[in-house]
Amino acid sequence: MSAAEKTMNNPSIGKVQNLHEGEPRLKLDAAGLEAAKHGLEKGAVTPSYGPWREDIIKLLNDSLATELVCVLRYKRHYFTAKGVASPAIADEFLVHANEETAHADQIAERIVQLGGEPDFSPATLIERSHAEYDDSADLQAMIRANLIAERVAIEAYSQMIALIGDKDSTTRRMLEGILSQEQEHADELSDWLSD
Ligand SMILES: [Fe+2]
Ligand SMILES: [Fe+2]
Repeated sequence: MSAAEKTMNNPSIGKVQNLHEGEPRLKLDAAGLEAAKHGLEKGAVTPSYGPWREDIIKLLNDSLATELVCVLRYKRHYFTAKGVASPAIADEFLVHANEETAHADQIAERIVQLGGEPDFSPATLIERSHAEYDDSADLQAMIRANLIAERVAIEAYSQMIALIGDKDSTTRRMLEGILSQEQEHADELSDWLSD
């Protein structure tokens, strides 16, 4: 008997407990649909969202702080590296600064959709950020500091994507988009790093 035949002949496979005759196995929760008609102040957050809202908002706020620190670091590097050695690299720092700004905007918008408050407070920015600020004067030191920050961001986003899993597919898809751009940043920086 082939493996496929064995599977077909196994009476326990494909059987669902407590299933009534003719009833679909993939069935929506009618009580959840009814509950979605209430609690309008919660906006896009409906009963199926689960108990993760505050944890996810906290993770997103820490990433918002990280993106904002990255914007400041890349801006500092852009203005001070101009004319130092490689204007092309300085220009690329500005491209990265603008892309980190776009990430910060996406994250802040998602926090608001989840009913949270995006934290832009400059007083606590650096302690909430995963990545560090850097004011090196030397171009290679700038590249190295940016590569470290990008690698930290890649690790943080990878962990967040694993933690969120199927708990919030909209947030996960957004983070996956940001992660792929951080990987491009790290790849470019490592090409410029002379050892
Ligand atoms: Fe970013
Ligand atoms: Fe980046």
